[in-house]
Amino acid sequence: MASPAPTDAAGGLPVTYERHGRIGVITVDHPPVNAVSQGVRGGLVAALDEGLADLAAEALLLVCAGRTFMAGADIREFGKAPAPPTLPEVVAWLDAAGKPVTAAIHGTALGGGLEIALACHFRVALPGARLGLPEVKLGLLPGAGGTQRLPRLVGPEKALDMILSGDPVGAEEALAIGLVDAVEDADTPLEAGLRAAERLLDRRRLAGRDVLVPVSARSGRITGTDPALFARRRAELAAKTPHLFSPHRIVDAVEAAVTLPFADGTARERALFLECMASPQRAGLIHAFFAEREVAKVPGLPTEAPLRTIGRTAVVGAGTMGTGIAMCFANAGLPVLLQDSSTDALARATATIRRNYETTARKGRLTMEQVEGRMALIRPTPSLDDVAGADLVVEAAFESMDVKRAVFRSLDAICKPGAILATNTSTLDIDAIAQATTRPDDVLGLHFFSPAQVMRLLEVVRGAGTSDTVLATAMALARKIGKVGVAVGNCHGFVGNRILHQRGCEAMALVGEGASPQQVDRVLTEFGFPLGHFAMTDLAGLDVGWRIRQERRKAGDPEAEAPDWLDVLAERGRHGQKTGAGVYRYEAGSRVPLPDPEVDSVIAEDRRRRGITPRIVADEDVRERCLYVMVNEAAKILDEGVAARPVDIDAIWLHGYGFPSWRGGLLFWAGQEGLRRIAAAVERHARRTGSPRWQPSPRLLRWAEAGSIPG
Ligand code: 3HC
Repeated sequence: MASPAPTDAAGGLPVTYERHGRIGVITVDHPPVNAVSQGVRGGLVAALDEGLADLAAEALLLVCAGRTFMAGADIREFGKAPAPPTLPEVVAWLDAAGKPVTAAIHGTALGGGLEIALACHFRVALPGARLGLPEVKLGLLPGAGGTQRLPRLVGPEKALDMILSGDPVGAEEALAIGLVDAVEDADTPLEAGLRAAERLLDRRRLAGRDVLVPVSARSGRITGTDPALFARRRAELAAKTPHLFSPHRIVDAVEAAVTLPFADGTARERALFLECMASPQRAGLIHAFFAEREVAKVPGLPTEAPLRTIGRTAVVGAGTMGTGIAMCFANAGLPVLLQDSSTDALARATATIRRNYETTARKGRLTMEQVEGRMALIRPTPSLDDVAGADLVVEAAFESMDVKRAVFRSLDAICKPGAILATNTSTLDIDAIAQATTRPDDVLGLHFFSPAQVMRLLEVVRGAGTSDTVLATAMALARKIGKVGVAVGNCHGFVGNRILHQRGCEAMALVGEGASPQQVDRVLTEFGFPLGHFAMTDLAGLDVGWRIRQERRKAGDPEAEAPDWLDVLAERGRHGQKTGAGVYRYEAGSRVPLPDPEVDSVIAEDRRRRGITPRIVADEDVRERCLYVMVNEAAKILDEGVAARPVDIDAIWLHGYGFPSWRGGLLFWAGQEGLRRIAAAVERHARRTGSPRWQPSPRLLRWAEAGSIPG
């Protein structure tokens, strides 16, 4: 095959060929993750040609330099005109190689990277390797033979499990299911690969014939497939992920592996791949992928900002949030002191943590040894003095400014110099809290989302005094504990809750006019949110918002709303799921929200009191008002510099509030929805209501004029 010059964008040589004895070694070296860019593809073809032409090379070995095997096609090239050679061409070239090719896998062999390995004759993995086809997470399907070769190796059922979940398997499991031929412990993939390739040549000599046939020529376990398998999977998808496009095409493609000869199945896979590639969901999911990585790079924060070492952590307050935050640290291997003056609260927290870990162990995701290891990292203590030696203290006490300031005054007196003092407040002024200390440069907000051990978002709130070092350390810590840290500025509700608050006001206004909470929630779940607004309120607890509103009223906040039907429900003890009743009612042990006539009458009474005659509200009104008000608020947040970039807002709503990832995030979606249309609607609602909520953000109007959101 004719191949272009094998250089990458940086002008380096991403693929090299070198012979080791009778083995020709092809090495891919394209940091950071050996993504299969055009340069790598061209380099692979050129190196393969060189190896095939090298008379002294009896077999070939494919290895990767750096931290991983190839982690997939180069996602940054998607959406651009395809540049030859394509990945399917490279794979076909390998498949047809006249010499046995071994792939030695370390790190992660993902997507197109694994598809390349699947086209080799033999796969050897190092013990820590992970192998998977995660294309579904990008709105795609494996488009270089993965849907055809994987079922031939591991059977269609397991292949569907892997391709539909996108989750990788470890080396041992890969061996057990037949995805790799050997697991080889070695210092380097080169060493493992050379040993395996030598053994193969010896086997061939002993057998006196070629011992290997390419996967494409094998039928393996592909025969005898349960005929109901594909119908069952389609029904499951329709129930579980009705919005998603690519999973259905994945089932079609794997079915083609069973029903069609290899070449025809591969052609079908290609056609389905191109359909996925053209779908808006692919664009949204890829935006979400890069957004998660982009937010780690905080504009204006020097990359060389020195970091403090976080070895010992402490959490003050053993309520629901404190308990979850302590688990986050223990999960990352960090020792954590969980402090609460109430020994009952500590006992409850410890029991909850153990129960959580044991449930995870029962599901097979932790061993009991790991459970005990994590429990040993969490030390409950009633004494605040014990936190004196911590490198980081996260305060998760009652959401009241007086309480928080008192805690910070004590922490200031107790904690060692250089300790980072963080508050988990979701609404209060970070600067007012920092001023209770003599070291505001060490203070910031770490706003975890409930349940803290599950939700990936961490708003890292920078106060007026927070130093670069403290901010950079917090961002690094977020990554260490597996969170998506997003740096935001200090304002009421920060970014996520401030936008949520506006959606909540609009949802309440819609119910006031005649919509039901169920209608609002249905429209939002049809849009793709996992929970509607009111079901989410029930999950968070009505008492939380009620207490915040009371605080604001007490503080004389002119924007604090008058008491409404939600306050009435909270006063009646309907605090949401945890009390079995909130906006909905819940049957014992169930999380399914059920409509409740008591709530309907509280709403009806509220409307009567306000002199409102309810009207029929169209679903489209609900969609437009709930979502467009969020976009307008997001633009205001950017106007004020509370968030630095649109991508920060997208990541916050994706990882903290269940914004459908296939829509890319709030502002990415706004761009697709049409900025002119949104701005016109915002202006219309501003004229209709005169409400500051609908006052158009100047930035939104600029975006509408330009037709796109820059940056
Ligand atoms: N293409 C381009 N860039 C990629 C990439 C890819 N496939 N995978 C990772 N990167 C980039 C990231 O954007 C990041 O760039 P940055 O430093 O400029 O922000 C850098 O590589 C490092 O990535 P991470 O920060 O994610 O590093 P981690 O060590 O945490 O994770 C990883 C490594 C597990 C490989 C993770 O990056 C990952 O999951 N990558 C995506 C893998 C994937 O989805 N592959 C399938 C691609 S689609 C495909 O192959 C289609 C084919 O079937 C035709």
